[in-house]
This record gives sequence, structure tokens and C-alpha cells, in this order.
Amino acid sequence: MGKLILLTWLFCYILNTISGAELPGDVQKCSFGNSTCLVRSINTLIKLHPKGIPAIGLPPLDSYHFPDTVVLDSPNRPIYLNFNMRDNVNKGFENTTVTHVEGFLREPNQKQILIKAHLPRLLHLATYDLEGRWLFCHKTSGTLQSDFQDFRVTLTLKVILEYRNNKRYLKVYDLVPSIYLGRWIIWFDDLFKENFDLTVAMNAVFNRHWVEFWNELHPGLKKSFSNGFTTILNRVFENVAYDDMFLPDR
Ligand SMILES: *[C@@H]1O[C@H](CO)[C@@H](O)[C@H](O)[C@H]1NC(C)=O
Ligand SMILES: *[C@@H]1O[C@H](CO)[C@@H](O)[C@H](O)[C@H]1NC(C)=O
Repeated sequence: MGKLILLTWLFCYILNTISGAELPGDVQKCSFGNSTCLVRSINTLIKLHPKGIPAIGLPPLDSYHFPDTVVLDSPNRPIYLNFNMRDNVNKGFENTTVTHVEGFLREPNQKQILIKAHLPRLLHLATYDLEGRWLFCHKTSGTLQSDFQDFRVTLTLKVILEYRNNKRYLKVYDLVPSIYLGRWIIWFDDLFKENFDLTVAMNAVFNRHWVEFWNELHPGLKKSFSNGFTTILNRVFENVAYDDMFLPDR
């Protein structure tokens, strides 16, 4: 490989690091705190870029990979159940509609930042590990498909500003999702590897009592959603300076 290519790459890399990435031209910039404009602009961005925007760190929204999560870890509670998820992929973020935005003022800490969104369907595929002494008293793993229908979420963000090369960068350090679900359809493969009928029966129990399971698993899943949303936002905020996302004040 030629030195020139390496040099060019290095140059671009350095330039990019110094000057920060720019939003693509098809993204409409808004004034600070203009909620109406932000809602429209974010929705347009999502529609135009379902595969993400690598240059600004936005991951693919139609197939978003995120880290392993511990959903339940309760060895000392009466209901003993360990529940972990690996190889996590979310599908359906590309169909997100942002319905409400608050905050994003010039001084971002002057008002709480809030984002409300609606997804008709969020599909979560993963490999799970389950170990319990509860409805079933054994250890198993397999793939799971989790279908969150009519998924409504309100994200409450806490942010700090970081300064790099005289530019202000936003960083989310706390994100609390509050989630409403219309319906949860979940399928665990191989719950009982040696007995398919029992696997079907147990999955039927999960789905008939999805509200109870949602209530039980909600705190762990919330953590997983919180990590997911924080990662998506921070990747963009790391790349594009805060002031470069908005129209300059006049
Ligand atoms: C907010 O942005 C819209 C454009 O999307 C513009 O028409 C409106 O005047 C702006 N509102 C304020 C208060 O700047
Ligand atoms: C997102 O919307 C498209 C178009 O309506 C649809 O084909 C796709 O299945 C949806 N994604 C999910 C995960 O439901």
C-alpha cells in the first residue's frame, strides 16, 4: 500500500478530529431549543438514513448491535433466576417517529432534555442464558426473539459539555427511559432442549402473562434500553460538535 494513501488517511483523520464531523447536507439545522423544528429534522434524518451515517457515528438503525446485558440476577431472592442476553440486535429503529423534543438550549443544562418517540414495532434478537429454580429448575441457552409492539418511550437525558479544540461537545451521562408497551410477544428457542412441547407450553405461559413478566423484567430491560439509546446518541455527540448541530444565534 502506498505511503500516500496512508498519509491521506492520516490527514483526513487528523482534520476530522480537529474540526469535528459535519451533519450531512440533507439534515435541516434548527435554532437552539426550537422543538417543532427539531422534531421534524430528526424524523427526516431517520427516514433518509435508515442505514445510519458512519461519518458522524450514527449506527445502522435497521439493525443495531449492542452489548451483552444482564436482565435478571437474583440468586438471593425467593425467585431464583439468572437471565443474560448476548449477540443483541435491535431491528425497527428505522421506523421511529419522534413525537416531542424538549431542551437542547444553547446552554444545554438550563432545561431538561426530553425526547419522546414511538416505534410501531421493535424487534430484539439475541442469544440468551437462563438459569432458574422457578417455573423451571434448570439451566439452558438458545436464541430469543422479542417483539415489542406499539413501543412508546420517553427519554430523559442528563448531559455535560466537554471542550475539545475550542468546540463544545455534548455528552450524555445519564439517560432514563420510561417505556409503555402495547404488547410483548416473546419466543425462547430451546427452553427445554429435550422436550419441544414443553418449550411451546412455557412460551405460551410467557405470552399469556406478558404484563407480569414485563413488570418483573422491566428494570433489567430498562438498563439495556438505556445503554442502547445512550450509545447511539453519544456516538453522534462525540463526532459532531454541539454548536455545529444548530444554526448560529443571531
Ligand atoms: C422554528 O423553526 C421553524 C422551521 O422549522 C420556523 O418556521 C420557526 O419560525 C422557528 N421558531 C422559532 C421560535 O424560531
Ligand atoms: C419498518 O417498516 C418497514 C416499512 O413499513 C417494514 O417493512 C419493516 O418490517 C419495519 N421494521 C420492523 C422491525 O418491523
